[in-house]
Amino acid sequence: MKGMVFTEFLEMVEDKFGWEIAEDIVDESDLPSGGAYTSVGTYDHNEMVTMVVALSEKTGLDIPTLLKAYGKHLFGRFNALYSTFFEDVSGTFDFLKSIDQYIHVEVRKLYPDAELPKFDYEYPNDETLVMIYSSKRPFADFAEGLLMGCLEHFGESIEIHREDLNEANGTEAKFTLVKVPESVAAD
Ligand code: HEM
Repeated sequence: MKGMVFTEFLEMVEDKFGWEIAEDIVDESDLPSGGAYTSVGTYDHNEMVTMVVALSEKTGLDIPTLLKAYGKHLFGRFNALYSTFFEDVSGTFDFLKSIDQYIHVEVRKLYPDAELPKFDYEYPNDETLVMIYSSKRPFADFAEGLLMGCLEHFGESIEIHREDLNEANGTEAKFTLVKVPESVAAD
């Protein structure tokens, strides 16, 4: 995974839990890279898994909760760092539909060694968008966090329903996003 995914993770840990915890999880994880990440480098995604496990042990928060929080945080950073992807976007669905065939394609041009997931889309009706996540890496929770960050960013009333397609390892999940009518959302 790209270094920025690691540097942003450690920044989030520092912000939310303090620098001592950030330092401890790096020290205790015995990472092949030594934890000295640079945003342009590329590192084994298992280092991320190891650090999330260590953070879970330290904080008592479960791994899915931490991965979702991290995805949500990273979405805010993507917004700041890659603002061009947010230009001329009409709303949440418009943005999300562009990830697989545009945003991640551009990301790969910038970083040819990026490890990106695949999204398949279904459009059952105007109010519903289905995104099927599949990856070689077990980051369905991370994807859900990114989706949560995206919904928060656009501020529309949309619910996420998740169905794990490969329950054992988090590499495949179906996310169904449904627009909630304003009258229902207000109840
Ligand atoms: C401006 C928006 C976005 C940008 C610039 C972006 C870019 C990136 C980058 C740079 C990576 C890391 C690649 C690597 O480490 O090698 C990544 C990974 C990933 N992205 Fe995106 N992304 C965006 C939006 C999203 C959204 C909204 C989702 C959620 C559905 C998503 C799902 C993922 C997942 C789950 C990964 C982790 C790799 C994996 O699961 O295999 N991305 N993305």
